Amino acid sequence: MKEAISIKLLYISLAVLCIVSSETKIRSMAMKLFDAHCHLQDQRVVDKAPLLIHIANAAGVVHIAVDGITEKDWHLVKEMSDEFDSVIPNFGLHPWYVEGKSRSWFNTLKELFEANPSAAVGEIGLDKSPLAKGVDFGEQVEVFKKQLQLAKDLKRPASVHCLDAFPELLQIMKEIGPFPAGVILHSFQGSPEVVPQLTKLGSYFSFSGHLMPLKEDKARKIVKAVPLDRLLLETDAPDALPTNPIFFVPGNATLNQPANVHSVLTYVASLLELSKEELADISYKNALGVFSFQGSKIPLK
Ligand SMILES: *[C@@H]1O[C@H](CO)[C@@H](O)[C@H](O)[C@H]1NC(C)=O
Ligand SMILES: [Zn+2]
Repeated sequence: MKEAISIKLLYISLAVLCIVSSETKIRSMAMKLFDAHCHLQDQRVVDKAPLLIHIANAAGVVHIAVDGITEKDWHLVKEMSDEFDSVIPNFGLHPWYVEGKSRSWFNTLKELFEANPSAAVGEIGLDKSPLAKGVDFGEQVEVFKKQLQLAKDLKRPASVHCLDAFPELLQIMKEIGPFPAGVILHSFQGSPEVVPQLTKLGSYFSFSGHLMPLKEDKARKIVKAVPLDRLLLETDAPDALPTNPIFFVPGNATLNQPANVHSVLTYVASLLELSKEELADISYKNALGVFSFQGSKIPLK
């Protein structure tokens, strides 16, 4: 117990050190930001999540959407949300993990949403890329459709992972949609051509460090195709460490954290030729809009 307290103190002093380490950083931290998608429940960072949330809050990242990916981590997301006001819980079964689901997964999920009116749906999705090699696509579709329909019925936004499956995604969204509560295409890397149809169905487009390895010209075309009122920023932490990170996770410099949404802001603002302040304001308001559903921690406007 004593040890836990001293570790907490160490974390807090570390956080303070990070924040006061540079004056220029502090000035840029006056903006408000919203990390629209991350995984602080991930086993690589879960023990440091309280620290990472404090660092993010101190850096002006006012809200952090934390997305569960399997039945096994939903309780961690719930506990984090119960403990931290800034955490927006999201529950979903990610396409990579559909084959490990239990027979009762969908009932468990529905009960979670009933018990947690502040929860959004995610991470759900479709993946035909090599990352999902071996995962049956038919089963992905079945699991995705059920969860997307649930999001629609509950009138809550859904965070969607889509890699190499945009024709299928569009078809399903047309069948089930439109989505007035919003569908968030997280770490969006689709082609500019799919943006107008997805927009019409109610989509938002969220950018992360995953955009940074792309050729700058390609990234610019994608970002510029997105209507400004549908643009969000996220970290997808602990993955997708930006190429220009400001913050490092203690003990592992390869891992990402929500405070680095500042780095995503810097990059996307440069692609759009907007100031960081302008894009922070736009993306923050968009995120408040999509996450302010009935029952959310973010009050309805
Ligand atoms: C840091 O995290 C990565 C990704 O999980 C892992 O492969 C690596 O071994 C970790 N490094 C250390 C020093 O723990
Ligand atoms: Zn994710």
